[in-house]
Amino acid sequence: MKKIAILTSGGDAPGMNAAIRAVVRTALENGLEVMGVKRGYAGLINGELFNMDRTSVSDIIQRGGTVLRTARCLEFKQEEVRKRAVKILKAYGVDALVVIGGDGSFMGAKLLSKLGVKTVGLPGTIDNDLAYTDYTIGFDTALNTVIDAINKIRDTSTSHERVSIVEVMGRHCGDIAVHAGIAGGAEAILVPELGFDKDALCRKILEGKAAGKMHNLIILAEGIGGAFDLAKEVEEVTGIETRATILGHTQRGGSPSAFDRVLSSKMGAKAVEVLLEGKTSRVIGIRDNKIVDDDIDEALAIERKFDEELYSIAEVLSK
Ligand code: ADP
Ligand code: F6P
Repeated sequence: MKKIAILTSGGDAPGMNAAIRAVVRTALENGLEVMGVKRGYAGLINGELFNMDRTSVSDIIQRGGTVLRTARCLEFKQEEVRKRAVKILKAYGVDALVVIGGDGSFMGAKLLSKLGVKTVGLPGTIDNDLAYTDYTIGFDTALNTVIDAINKIRDTSTSHERVSIVEVMGRHCGDIAVHAGIAGGAEAILVPELGFDKDALCRKILEGKAAGKMHNLIILAEGIGGAFDLAKEVEEVTGIETRATILGHTQRGGSPSAFDRVLSSKMGAKAVEVLLEGKTSRVIGIRDNKIVDDDIDEALAIERKFDEELYSIAEVLSK
């Protein structure tokens, strides 16, 4: 193997730049040439490849987003389009492709590897929705952004003795909500994995008020959604002023946390190591604090298990 290429795909996540840097510098250190691909699979099929050296990744470890840009490219689901991508990679002499993205991007990588391209995936998504890894790149930073927002909302919520509903991202996954709920000391956490009962929620809010709680902070995962409608209903039933805040894309930006930078650096180095060992169709993860690599098919087939234990800790602590 002489030359690898790297791309970022799907939703961006803080830490992607640190991962790009780690892949590029580890590869160069091992005598490999590196090409960057702009705009994910969309850029790949347009031949947007360029040579990268050590300085191409200077001054990016602290930056959110992705310097390679990213895209969602629905055409990539078509085999003819993927075959075009293979031809382009061959034309540039690229032997292996590193894909940083979520499960959709991994699906693209998996299908590319079936066409003979060596691939390795790094989990880059704030959602933490990949079952094979304990953490994805960007989750910790997004979580800290949410906590910063919750702390601020709590101040005003307490002053006005209101209920505050904060809607967080995560797609179909409640991990951001549960972790933010615990770290932010929320009174209730509503996640798609469990659903919720509106009457029970209103009862809990009223019981909290009767017990002397100054505010009620409710974290709502976007997989359930409807923060503004819920705020209206809660206000009607409880008689307590209620406000909703949707944190939205603030959660995707910002300088990556130290945890995400270290995770990205370790995962990037491992991705190159795995390719140098001659492996293909792998994804990098972290389990029990060890960086691991797994077969992409097996990793994608693992069903995500909701962390009931963590949720029950939150329930006890929020009473
Ligand atoms: P994420 O990687 O964050 O989950 P998406 O689900 O939007 O984000 O996927 C990113 C890109 O991966 C898509 O725009 C598409 O180019 C590619 N992709 C997703 N699913 C598939 C699939 N089934 N087959 C081939 N490519 C796919
Ligand atoms: O997958 C990351 C994510 O931010 C999800 O949490 C959210 O549902 C989605 O992407 C938003 O996508 P877009 O940026 O295309 O609106």
